[in-house]
Amino acid sequence: TAKLQTVAKSAGKLYFGTATDNSELSDTAYTAILDDNTMFGQITPANSMKWDATEPSQGQFTFSGADQIANLAKTNGMLLRGHNCVWYNQLPSWVSNGGFTTAQLTSIIQTHCSTLVGRYKGQVCTCPSHSWDVVNEPFNDDGTWRSDVFYNTLGTSFVEIALNAARQADPTAKIYINDYNIESPGAKSTAMQNLVKSLKSSNVPIDGVGLQCHFIVGETPSSASLIQNMNAFTALGVEVAITELDIRMTLPSTAALLAQQKTDYTTVISACQAVSGCVGVTVWDWTDKYSWVPSTFSGQGAACPWDQNFQKKPAFDGIVTGFGN
Ligand code: G3I
Repeated sequence: TAKLQTVAKSAGKLYFGTATDNSELSDTAYTAILDDNTMFGQITPANSMKWDATEPSQGQFTFSGADQIANLAKTNGMLLRGHNCVWYNQLPSWVSNGGFTTAQLTSIIQTHCSTLVGRYKGQVCTCPSHSWDVVNEPFNDDGTWRSDVFYNTLGTSFVEIALNAARQADPTAKIYINDYNIESPGAKSTAMQNLVKSLKSSNVPIDGVGLQCHFIVGETPSSASLIQNMNAFTALGVEVAITELDIRMTLPSTAALLAQQKTDYTTVISACQAVSGCVGVTVWDWTDKYSWVPSTFSGQGAACPWDQNFQKKPAFDGIVTGFGN
C-alpha cells in the first residue's frame, strides 16, 4: 500500500507532512502511524510552539512541549515546520493586553522570534530545509490588516521586524507568512501578494507563503483557481506550501460525502503537483480523532484522510491520485 511521503517524494515534492500535538503522543496506536517516516516526512506542532506555550511570561521561555515535537521530528528524520512566531491568537495576556511603546513591542517581537527560531536552528540538518510560519494570519478576509496588538502598535512594520529576527536567528530556515482564505484569487490573496511585493522591494527576507487550505467538502476551490493563485505567488519569487490541509463536512459522513471528499483532496494535491514552486503538503492532523474541526464548527468534522479509528478513508487514495499515481 502507498505511503504518502514516498509518493510525494517520487512526485518531486519535498515532503508530505502532518500537524500533531503533544497530548496525542501518549496514544500508541496513533504514534505507530505518526512515526512512520515513509508516511509523513514533515511535522508541524499544532499548538506547542505558539506564544502562550513558549513565552507565557515575559522573558520566561518554556520549551518542553515544543522540544518534544522537535525531537520526534529529529528522531524520525522528518522536516520540522515551526508554527508560529507572531499571531493574534493564543497570545499570553502580557502581550495581548498591549500598552507598549513601539520600541518596547519591537524588542518584545525580536526577543520572542529570535529565541524561538534560534532554539531549533539547524534542526534536521540532513534534510534540505525546514521552515517557519513567522507571521500567521495578518489579514482580515476583505484584505485589510487585522486589528491586533502588533498592527495597532507598530502598523505593518511588525511583519519585517519578525521576519528579520527569524532570518538572523536561523539563516538556513525558510521563512513564511501563513494565512487562510488566500488559496484562490480574491481580495485577501491580493493583499498577501501586495505584501510580498512590498517586502521584496524593500529587501525584507521572505521565502514563502503558506496556504492553509481549511476547506469544505463540495466547496473546495477548483484546480484551475488554486493553480492560478499559486502561480501568482511564485511569480513574485517566493515558494508556496499547503500548510494546514483538511476538508470538513457536515456530519454524519455518508458514502457520497466521502467520495466527494476524495475528489476534493485530489483537486488540492494535484494543484500543488502542477506548480513546481509548491514544495509540499501538510495535513492539519491525519486522523479525525484529533482534528480541531468539531470543537470549532459544531456539527462538522470528518475532515482528515484517516477516520477516528485510524482507518484510511477514500480521501487517502484521493491524495495518492493527486500526486499522479
Ligand atoms: O491547553 C488548554 C488546556 O489547558 C485546557 O484544559 C483546554 C480546555 O479547552 O484547552 C486547551 O487549549 C486548547 C488548545 O487548542 C490546546 O489543545 C484551546 O482551548 C483550543 O482553542 C486550541 O485550539 C487550537 C486552535 O488553533 C486555536 O486557535 C487547535 O488545537 C489548533 O489545531 C488550531 O490551529 C490553527 C493554526 O494554529 C492556525 N490556522 C488555523 C488552525 C485551526 O484553527
